[in-house]
Amino acid sequence: MIDRDAMLDAYAYAEGGGLRVNFVSSLDGAATVDGRSGGLGAEDDQQLMGVLRSLADVVLVAGGTLRHEGYGALRLGPENAAWRRANGRTPHPRLAIVSSSLAFAASDPIFADAPERPIVVTHAASPPDRRAALADVADVLVAGDDAVDLREAVDALAHLGHGDLLCEGGPSLFGDLLDAGLVDELCLTLGPVLVGGDGPRIVRHADEGIRRMRLVHALPSGDLVFLRYRRA
Ligand SMILES: NC(=O)c1ccc[n+]([C@@H]2O[C@H](COP(=O)([O-])OP(=O)(O)OC[C@H]3O[C@@H](n4cnc5c(N)ncnc54)[C@H](OP(=O)(O)O)[C@@H]3O)[C@@H](O)[C@H]2O)c1
Repeated sequence: MIDRDAMLDAYAYAEGGGLRVNFVSSLDGAATVDGRSGGLGAEDDQQLMGVLRSLADVVLVAGGTLRHEGYGALRLGPENAAWRRANGRTPHPRLAIVSSSLAFAASDPIFADAPERPIVVTHAASPPDRRAALADVADVLVAGDDAVDLREAVDALAHLGHGDLLCEGGPSLFGDLLDAGLVDELCLTLGPVLVGGDGPRIVRHADEGIRRMRLVHALPSGDLVFLRYRRA
């Protein structure tokens, strides 16, 4: 079991915030098993997710991951919500969904049950009728003409006072953020399993090339290892 207070300290954002990406992977590098991340980690990994969400202003997630992983409204547990309140934050971070298709219903619990108004990050060529429908239940951030301009989106979030960003994937969004030079940190949990198969790695579709990272810490927790790397 992780010590929550120690983890809150260990994962504090650098002064000025930044964009951190959080993933879990198997020992052989798989980001999914049976199409989801669920079997790769353990309970401690879910606790880390709660800690990382507690520290963030906004949790950024791709439409694909939202659908695959069956996201509901982003709501922290009472302990984490209380910690945020005590630290001058809203009890829950905002969820920001990156999507072109906008294939979500305004009645979806992601929006309908959200304790904080979600943000939909899209571009000017996304379906206007869906954009209008979602504008009733979320702030719609349009960045880019026919593809999401992620740098513009991150700048717009910063302008709203959202400088501490946590991206929960998936691999395609991670690849796009990497190509845009926006990834400041990677938090990677190594799960104690070997998976095989042909499932994706944690990054997809990014240009091949070395982006050097520096180890901040490697914390064992049972059979898991929590790795925190910062851009070199
Ligand atoms: N191991 C882990 O920690 C972890 C974490 C997250 C996800 N996953 C797994 O990863 C898989 C999904 O990954 P994926 O690579 O297929 O997809 P993904 O990155 O989750 O999502 C792709 C979809 O998200 C939207 N999207 C992503 N980047 C976008 C961008 N730059 N601009 C506009 N829209 C963007 C689009 O959705 P629209 O159709 O809405 O336009 C796109 O079709 C799932 O199996 C999930 O379980 C694993």
